[in-house]
Amino acid sequence: MRLFVAIDLPEMVKDHLESLQSRLPTARWVRRQQMHLTLFFLGETERIQGIKDALASIEAPAFALTLAGVGRFPKRQKQPPRVLWVGIDDEPALAQLHQKITTALAEIGVKPEDRPFSPHITLARLNTREPLPEVDAFLNSHSAFQVPSISIHEFVLFSSVLSPQGPRYEREAIFALTANRCQTG
Ligand code: 2AM
Repeated sequence: MRLFVAIDLPEMVKDHLESLQSRLPTARWVRRQQMHLTLFFLGETERIQGIKDALASIEAPAFALTLAGVGRFPKRQKQPPRVLWVGIDDEPALAQLHQKITTALAEIGVKPEDRPFSPHITLARLNTREPLPEVDAFLNSHSAFQVPSISIHEFVLFSSVLSPQGPRYEREAIFALTANRCQTG
């Protein structure tokens, strides 16, 4: 099973993200059912029960997330763009959640990801060998993009089934974050 851990997004956020989708050469836009913020990519594994147990042991507080700005991977302008994304404002609780997931999974023998955590929401994947001026224009025109803050109360273990029509994601388990005093009063 191909698994990853992510934060699912409210429909309101997906409305905002969809509003960015436009005509860009070679772009495959992420469908709204598949929009998410990846926390940890596990890849192909059969150890789903152990992974669920490890994730269930995590205690981390709910937090607020602000989506702001757009960008591309690779970040270096000279290389052709592969991914367009929406950025996430710095949020220590998000970085701590990522760290707790990494630690809990490491305890059951899952290797930490080899790239640093760079929180983003993938908007589109591009298939080009050339830099595209349209992409630069897209990034410039949406640099001030922002979505009102949202409260994050849970994270999700997803499975991903690849098919010629694109991937299909299913929720395998949902893990609650602990109520945050600021939000509950
Ligand atoms: P991203 O779009 O947030 O970058 C499900 O496949 C998700 O896992 C993708 O949306 C992608 O996240 C992430 N992903 C896919 N392949 C990956 C890989 N080899 N390494 C890290 N993350 C990956």
